[in-house]
Amino acid sequence: MTIETGPAHWLRLQDRVCVVTGAASGIGRAIAEVLAAQGARLALLDRNAQLLEDVARQLGTHERPAIAVPCDTASEDQLQQAALRVERELGAAQTLVNNAGVLRAGSLGALALDDWNLVLSVDLTGYWLTARAFGAQLRAHRHNEGASMVHVASIAGHFPQSHSGAYSAAKAGVCLLSRQLAVEWGEDAVRSNVVCPGMIRTPLSADFYAQPGVEQARAAATASGRVGEPQDIAHVAAFLASQRSAYVNAAEILVDGGMSSKLMDMVPRPGFSPAR
Ligand SMILES: NC(=O)c1ccc[n+]([C@@H]2O[C@H](COP(=O)([O-])OP(=O)(O)OC[C@H]3O[C@@H](n4cnc5c(N)ncnc54)[C@H](O)[C@@H]3O)[C@@H](O)[C@H]2O)c1
Repeated sequence: MTIETGPAHWLRLQDRVCVVTGAASGIGRAIAEVLAAQGARLALLDRNAQLLEDVARQLGTHERPAIAVPCDTASEDQLQQAALRVERELGAAQTLVNNAGVLRAGSLGALALDDWNLVLSVDLTGYWLTARAFGAQLRAHRHNEGASMVHVASIAGHFPQSHSGAYSAAKAGVCLLSRQLAVEWGEDAVRSNVVCPGMIRTPLSADFYAQPGVEQARAAATASGRVGEPQDIAHVAAFLASQRSAYVNAAEILVDGGMSSKLMDMVPRPGFSPAR
């Protein structure tokens, strides 16, 4: 048996057509960078056309194109146009990373219906519509090595957080949507998995870190002692995109630096505090 060693070969993503939504910024951009470094051919979708062009220009090469496909992932029409263009210019997508997302603050008692609908339309319905728009292309790989979907959900999909109710409900929906897709499309060799990031420093969350003390308090809430970076998510997404995760299906990987395991450390336990 030949063991491939070089990092560029291990994931075997060379020339694979990968679609990444929300690729103009933050986690989506980092995922696009990691996939490009692995030799993938990229279709980058985002509604921010200008930023998207910059990313595509930075990542694309003659042999490994990265095309910018401006698209609102809440729009079925735009997604269908995007899917046609990707197939025409790059060939059938073999990986789809659903990542475009928005966040709106608001407690469930006070949240405007428009905000609820916006968050659900991008963060949940948009993932389903994107999967459906690229579904035929993904299924077209069933006679070779199959295809992979990776959905970026959130730790918020497992743990409620006050004033963020629409977001948590949407992300919880993504976790089950992914398993549903895995079950329905498994016979066509399309896998579907979720990455649940914890706290990651991106433009989406930049305002939080601008407040004094937030970075330190957030770092202390994790077992790893730091806030996550977009690359922390991108490397896991690349693994799930690749054939190295061939038997990982309908799964979720929590990438939160151990934050969700610190629950019992939050309650007072007199006599058990460690001596430091
Ligand atoms: N940053 C975090 O701490 C964190 C934690 C958990 C989950 N997430 C999730 O990670 C994903 C990426 O978030 P991020 O932190 O990189 O945010 P970001 O704001 O940096 O990037 C999100 C990208 O999605 C794009 N986008 C938003 N709505 C869109 C639409 N309707 N159509 C097309 N593109 C659209 C934006 O233009 C932007 O480029 C989101 O799904 C988010 O919910 C982030």
